Amino acid sequence: MMSWLLTGGAGYIGSHVLRAMRADSLDVVVLDDLSTGDAGRVPATVPLVTASVLDRDAVQRALVEYEISGVVHLAAKKSVGESMCNPLHYYRENVLGVVSLLAAMNAVGVRRLVYSSSAAVYGTPATDAVDETAPLQPESPYGRTKLIGEWLVGDAVALGLSSVSLRYFNVVGCADPGLADVGGTNLFPLVMRALAGGERPTLFGEDYPTHDGSCIRDYIHVQDLAEAHVAAARLVASTTCQETVNIGCGRGHSVLEVLSAVGAVTGRDATPEILPRRPGDPAAVVAAVGKARRLLGWQAQHGLDDMVASSWHALAGDDPLARPQAISPAGAAR
Ligand SMILES: NC(=O)c1ccc[n+]([C@@H]2O[C@H](COP(=O)([O-])OP(=O)(O)OC[C@H]3O[C@@H](n4cnc5c(N)ncnc54)[C@H](O)[C@@H]3O)[C@@H](O)[C@H]2O)c1
Repeated sequence: MMSWLLTGGAGYIGSHVLRAMRADSLDVVVLDDLSTGDAGRVPATVPLVTASVLDRDAVQRALVEYEISGVVHLAAKKSVGESMCNPLHYYRENVLGVVSLLAAMNAVGVRRLVYSSSAAVYGTPATDAVDETAPLQPESPYGRTKLIGEWLVGDAVALGLSSVSLRYFNVVGCADPGLADVGGTNLFPLVMRALAGGERPTLFGEDYPTHDGSCIRDYIHVQDLAEAHVAAARLVASTTCQETVNIGCGRGHSVLEVLSAVGAVTGRDATPEILPRRPGDPAAVVAAVGKARRLLGWQAQHGLDDMVASSWHALAGDDPLARPQAISPAGAAR
């Protein structure tokens, strides 16, 4: 049976990918330096190699020891803001990490890779529904590191690499409170934390050219995203390809729609405090998802209510006030 090395498998998304791969009967070994990950997210029955992808020898040893034939590479630093302040750290971890991984794979003849990219490679798109051929204009060191990673992976075709790069849109929700996103500079964790702390959430800009004036984004439930990795792993295992695929829902929700769903699910007043626009926030970014359907046979299953409810549960734990309530059709944004 084919074995997979999952880098970053102790992280928020990686721990979901790990579970989805195992549920699909794939054999997985995790490699993670635990810099932002948590070993507790890796079940005891899954081998965990605690090492950085920058440590080429350690990666190579893991590939050989566990007879790995394919890699799903998620290990990276992911904060846009942090990448602005500390760009060299991001280039080292995210770009040199890919170089190190590809070198280790090449040295031992592992030629199948699923690479974790981001919609950040598009920057501010000119169209609302962004397809994979849209101009690539990342606006942060983080986005640029992800794009350089795509280029590295694409150029490794010369080494016989079969690859799929997945461009994730806004990843939210969780399958289990223990697997939640604790990093939290994104809208969902920020809103949930504000409500849990009895504060009002913040809305940056209500004068965008959208139907309700707030920004529109494509939110994707992390469980759906995890399933996309399984489909991509199966594709690179069965054929030789170099593909780049958007992973989103294919529909957008405005920030006000999200807050309305949050209010309905949590039973709390999610009326926001309105602040001016933040520089650099595009009005609307939504994925065109036709390629994911055609190539991977995958599409998102979870709606906004699931994303909100699972995020809230993860934060609120046993707080009875946080239990989900019936959602009135008028109150929910779907
Ligand atoms: N969360 C999002 O919304 C989002 C959106 C687009 C793309 N991504 C990408 O998804 C991937 C996973 O992100 P996440 O949200 O799960 O973040 P996370 O910080 O929870 O997970 C990253 C994992 O990688 C590990 N790691 C980091 N650097 C490493 C290194 N050099 N060697 C080995 N392990 C290392 C960390 O310990 C952690 O377990 C990243 O590549 C990120 O760029 C995330």
